[in-house]
Amino acid sequence: MPLSSLLLSSIFTLFIFSFLYLSIEIEAETTYHHHHHHHRHLRSLHFSLFQHETINKTGYFIVPGVVGPSVSQTTTPFGTMFVFHDPLTTGAHRASKLVGTSEGTAITSGLDGLQSISIAKISLRLKHHTGSLSIVGGTHNVKPSNHPIVGGTGDFLFVQGYVTSSPVDLVGITVVYKLEFHLYWPPYA
Ligand SMILES: *[C@@H]1O[C@H](CO)[C@@H](O)[C@H](O)[C@H]1NC(C)=O
Repeated sequence: MPLSSLLLSSIFTLFIFSFLYLSIEIEAETTYHHHHHHHRHLRSLHFSLFQHETINKTGYFIVPGVVGPSVSQTTTPFGTMFVFHDPLTTGAHRASKLVGTSEGTAITSGLDGLQSISIAKISLRLKHHTGSLSIVGGTHNVKPSNHPIVGGTGDFLFVQGYVTSSPVDLVGITVVYKLEFHLYWPPYA
């Protein structure tokens, strides 16, 4: 083998080895970082509250709908705009501890009159966390709905997750919903 080709092949071998070494290094570092973040920074919080909505007191129809079923305990015409500012308590009973409010709007977007798009700001004063969560999503009037959390303020800054809203009592002038919170703080929060 001529000297020049021997030299070339050793350089090539060296190059391959250093490349391999580098990839192992990178991989090790990535694994380490994932591990590190997972254990030191991922925080989550899970709890339930109850939302009380009293027609013509904490919730009002502000724009009438245009088509579909009429206003009933579970339906509203397509296009109906509703605005609310409801208390949130720790128990299903209205007299239980008040820990926050949910203010927002719902626009009937289902032609069956059963579904709406809801936007809400949930303000909370919990034992160790004070601030607000913003949620957006589709709500079904008689079935549980998952509302993605789009962000938060105060102690909930950068929070992600979802809030599951389920009707508990739809009879009478005050309707009650159970809200199940599943909150996750990203590593950079
Ligand atoms: C709420 O107020 C509207 C407008 O005044 C009225 O038509 C409706 O009957 C009231 N609803 C209840 C449940 O009191």
